[in-house]
Formats: sequence, structure tokens, C-alpha cells
Amino acid sequence: METPRTLTLIRPDDWHLHLRDGAAMAAVLPATARQFARAIVMPNLKPPVVTAQQAQAYRDRIVGALPPGSDFTPLMTLYLTDTLPPTEIARAKAAGVVAVKLYPAGATTHSDAGVTDMRRVAPTLEAMQRAGLLLLVHGEVTDPSVDVFDREAVFIERVMQPLRRDFPALKVVFEHITTREAARYVADSDENTAATITAHHLLYNRNAIFMGGLRPHYYCLPVLKREVHRQALIGAATSGSRKFFLGTDSAPHAAALKEASVCGAGCYTAPAALELYAEAFEAAGALDKLEAFASFNGPDFYGLPRNRGSVTLRREPWQLPETVPFGDAQLKPLRGGETLNWRLVT
Ligand code: NCD
Ligand code: ZN
Repeated sequence: METPRTLTLIRPDDWHLHLRDGAAMAAVLPATARQFARAIVMPNLKPPVVTAQQAQAYRDRIVGALPPGSDFTPLMTLYLTDTLPPTEIARAKAAGVVAVKLYPAGATTHSDAGVTDMRRVAPTLEAMQRAGLLLLVHGEVTDPSVDVFDREAVFIERVMQPLRRDFPALKVVFEHITTREAARYVADSDENTAATITAHHLLYNRNAIFMGGLRPHYYCLPVLKREVHRQALIGAATSGSRKFFLGTDSAPHAAALKEASVCGAGCYTAPAALELYAEAFEAAGALDKLEAFASFNGPDFYGLPRNRGSVTLRREPWQLPETVPFGDAQLKPLRGGETLNWRLVT
């Protein structure tokens, strides 16, 4: 099949995004608002977003920082802690919060307030199931005896299977899946389980972290895996299954903190997110599957309307800037300084 010169999609959404707060948020928000109609905004601020009121206030700060004329809606989430009371769920629902995020304690950036034992949060999960709030899962165990590259697969057995058994009516999104095991688990599960997939996990395997030296900007969590896993993710994203949808996990960290002796986890992909997904789908010969993945499957699973209007990508080489401002600091987007073959037409 010959590659088309342009590709027009119903406006897409980003179902997993880190916006941070304050000047950092104001710096990264325009990139997402330009590409997406809505985004699920992660609650892992410091301190985390744990009440309906905090989620509302955070939403107001995001909306207040939007460039004039933007048409972008942040979709808010709460951070699940051992002590999030079930009574907060009804307040969250009333405040327009759509989901609650589970970080196993210590799994990733700003996750120290996360859940230490799933039994502790059972009453809250019960309340979410009743209220129709989704559970978004960072699917990695934190057991130090489990190899970093196996933590997602082990999470399926230790956490996902019991969770699905105990709360069958809870809608669960297995976020940023990175393995063949997770892709298979989600594909084989019932209609209440879905997954997001990032552009970087579709484009890269773990070799990218070590190409000619250690590459901190390719370090994220869950970490990039072997090529067989990348292939399985491509298979899932392009399969036509409605269970898989776009979530960039764009996670900005100042360049100075990435290029340090201890490098924070996160890839910043927001400035060219759609372009990177288009590249991955094109390489798989599946550009015709991109629209459902980017624009239909997410809202359908969340029970939200699909967007109106469209965006167009053109096949046209351009150079992504190597650095962009980030409050007082600098940010290095993934693939910055390199040529991309697709470009979002504005
Ligand atoms: C995220 C961040 O920086 O907040 N980092 C990442 O590597 N994805 C946290 C997360 O989603 O794990
Ligand atoms: Zn994330």
C-alpha cells in the first residue's frame, strides 16, 4: 500500500499525561492542547492530588494556563493512597473526576504515597465500582527481588488477576503496557479491562537506552523492553481491538535532572506525540488503524462522547527542536534535534 501524503483523523485524546504544575505546567500544556482535545491528567504532583477539591483546583489552574483560543479539556484523576476514604469517591464523581490512579508505593516518579497493600483500598475500590469511576493502574510490582524487566509480568499474577476477580464491574485501564504478557492479558480479558500504549514503547526497544552510551532521555517507567515485546505492542495497537488506545505518558523532567548521576524516569513526547504514533503505525503498515486507536477507543471505553472536528498530519520532513523552555529550566523532547517525517498541520 502506498503511503498517503496526508492523514486526517477525528480529533484525538491523550489518555495518560503528566502536566506537572505551576510554571512547568504552563510550559508544557500548549504542546498537548495543540494536538489533543482532552487528556487524562495524572495526579502525581508533590504532594499528590488526593481530594475532589484539589482535583478541581488543579483543573482550574490548567484551564487558566491554556493559551487563548485553545479548545482543550483536562480530565481529572485522584491519586489512590492507603487512606483515600470511600466517601471521597462520591465527591470526586460530583466534581467531574473520571478516574483514580493506582501507583504501587515506590513504583515510579512521585509514587511514595502509593498503595502498600491492595486489601487496604478494597472499600474505596468498591465505592469506585458503584460510582463508575475508572481505576488506572501503574502495573509494576515493587518487590526488589523481582527483576526490573519482569515487574509488569509479575504484576499481572500478583495484582491484576485478584483485582479483576474481586471487582469485576470496575473499569480498569492497564496503563502504558510494555510487554507481550500485558498485551495478551488485556486482549483476553473481559470488556471492563483496557490498556494505553505510549508512542515510545511502540517505536523503541531497550537497546535505545544504550545506543553508543547511556541515553537518559529514553529512560522511563515501565522501562523499555526487548524487541519481542515491542512487536507485541505493535500487534495490539494495530489489531483493531477496541481495548487499546493512545496514552502518551509524556512525563517532563528538566534536562539537568535527566542528565544526572540519578536520572528521573520519564520521556517527554508531547510536542510531537501524534507524529511519533503515525511513524509507528506507518512502519507497521497500519496507518488506517491509527484513528480508532487515537480517537475512538479511548472515549468509547471511558463512556465519553467522541470528539468533533479533525486534525491533519502531512508527510513532510521537519526538525523537532532539541530543547524547549520549561519554567526556569530546559526540557529535551524525545527525538529533539532529529528529523520527523510526519507533521501536524495547524
Ligand atoms: C512518570 C513521571 O515522571 O511522572 N514517569 C515515567 O517514567 N512514566 C511517572 C509514571 O507514569 O510512571
Ligand atoms: Zn505516567
